[in-house]
Amino acid sequence: MKDIYVLGIESSCDETAASIVKNGREILSNVVNSQIDIHTLYGGVVPEIASRNHILNISEVVKMAIKEAKINMNDIDAVACTYGPGLVGALLVGLSYGKALSYALNKPLIGTNHIEGHIAANYITHKDLEPPFLCVMMSGGNTQIIHIKDYNKFEVLGKTRDDAVGEAFDKIARVVGLGYPGGPKIDELAKKGEANITLPKTHFDNLDFSFSGIKTAIINLYHKNPEINKADLCKSFEKTVAETLVENIKKAIEQTKINKIILAGGVSANSYIRKEFLSLENAKVYMPDLKLCTDNAAMIASAGYYNYISGKISDLTLNAEPDLKL
Ligand code: KG4
Repeated sequence: MKDIYVLGIESSCDETAASIVKNGREILSNVVNSQIDIHTLYGGVVPEIASRNHILNISEVVKMAIKEAKINMNDIDAVACTYGPGLVGALLVGLSYGKALSYALNKPLIGTNHIEGHIAANYITHKDLEPPFLCVMMSGGNTQIIHIKDYNKFEVLGKTRDDAVGEAFDKIARVVGLGYPGGPKIDELAKKGEANITLPKTHFDNLDFSFSGIKTAIINLYHKNPEINKADLCKSFEKTVAETLVENIKKAIEQTKINKIILAGGVSANSYIRKEFLSLENAKVYMPDLKLCTDNAAMIASAGYYNYISGKISDLTLNAEPDLKL
């Protein structure tokens, strides 16, 4: 069978990324230009600044991806672009570039859902992984439990009712003065702390989550006592969040009788959460390589590949969808 090369393009937030992936599983190049240093100055992503920087970077990033993969533009079989969810102005840059390239090269455009991309990061890391399985999606914008029935057949079993878990990490880090992006900073500091602070946990009858309560509790604790041991606070936060995520996946396993689990999204890079999931009994847990947890285009190329081989081709009227669901 002929090898299939997909160019992935990702610009949904503050990373401009392009990648070539062979047959959905093998990375030939994975270029990520992160704007973290720029947005750190403002304590978070400034959408307009993100869009402007994507415009400055996109052309070079795509060229680098092609060069590093040691292929020619014409070897590409399809152009997979994130079209949502994300920041509309940021999405539009990668999508417009991808559409232009698809038109110029006369290769199919594959509009790709960013959340599907995070799931597909696991296909690259684990070459033998195949659906069906359950996914704990934990990113900056989403927290969900998803039943992946097939490569492009999904059912959301539970979701956050308010903040995404990554959002809670980022806001807490900002308030207690750790800066942006909060997740990695909390991860590091928590290693020096003890989980000795009791924090509120939510329980719902279904598989939903809520993280605004714990976020507010921590912010209030800190404001009442700015001398509080921040490492302990971070460790206690991670422990409570991990317990909530694990409790819900256990319920999902019971409900679906599926015990193959994947982690996905930026927060799945968290060392404490990874460890807790690995000790889950009676389940086989897969997680992406650290470099594939946060935003990148290899995961978009992989998800795009599975859409491409099942004939899910987009046309050039495709628009950015900031609130795109699975
Ligand atoms: O998946 P992602 O790159 O972007 C979205 O698609 O939303 O996730 C970004 C989120 C941010 O909230 C960031 O703080 C968090 O992932 N994150 C982490 C870690 N690395 C990134 N959270 C906890 N621990 C980490 N090591």
